[in-house]
Amino acid sequence: METLEIKKPLTGTTIDPLIQKRWSPRAFSQELIPEETMNSIFTAASWAPSAMNEQPWQYIYAERGTPAFDRLWDCLVEGNQPWTKDAAVIFVALYNRYYERNGRVNRNAAHDLGMANAQLLLQAASQDVYGHILGGFDADQLIDTLELSDDQVPFCMGVLGYLGNPDDLEEPYRSRERAKRSRKELNEFVTKL
Ligand SMILES: Cc1cc2nc3c(=O)[nH]c(=O)nc-3n(C[C@H](O)[C@H](O)[C@H](O)COP(=O)(O)O)c2cc1C
Repeated sequence: METLEIKKPLTGTTIDPLIQKRWSPRAFSQELIPEETMNSIFTAASWAPSAMNEQPWQYIYAERGTPAFDRLWDCLVEGNQPWTKDAAVIFVALYNRYYERNGRVNRNAAHDLGMANAQLLLQAASQDVYGHILGGFDADQLIDTLELSDDQVPFCMGVLGYLGNPDDLEEPYRSRERAKRSRKELNEFVTKL
């Protein structure tokens, strides 16, 4: 509860409570995520907009305590390994490089995967499941591990789980778990012409 208060966005403007609720934790409880909840989370991702409704995203995931989880976890960079081992789920978010309809390169695919990820994270938060997206992984190792084709681009990985106790984390992760979140001011990234 204390962590939730610390992580709440400090903003003078009203934003949706679900957006306020989402953040990227490192401390996860041991609880696994029911399949029904995972299906809601992936269904929410599938309703993201995408160029030509191509839906170029793919998710490959594994549950903690399985050899598949360990194989995916092994692909993470060192700094991401200590705190992700307790997550309930580890996943890979991929996009298809080529349009199914004509075989051309889909230049919108990374954007569309990001949209799907955002919806995935918000749906998860609405069910008290928190996600942490991870760019720190060895892509070549992951491609080998999953025997991915040239069409399948593993853009990022991520973990999902219920919130745990920050005291169980080692440093520097414990301090990060208690640090306030921050964002740029609107005038740093919004221009009204
Ligand atoms: C594409 C992407 C890659 C990321 N890679 C990592 C990572 O490798 N390790 C990590 O601890 N966090 C990673 N993050 C999480 C960000 O650090 C985090 O979203 C950011 O600090 C904002 O915090 P918030 O999600 O709690 O609002 C990544 C996030 C994104 C979207």
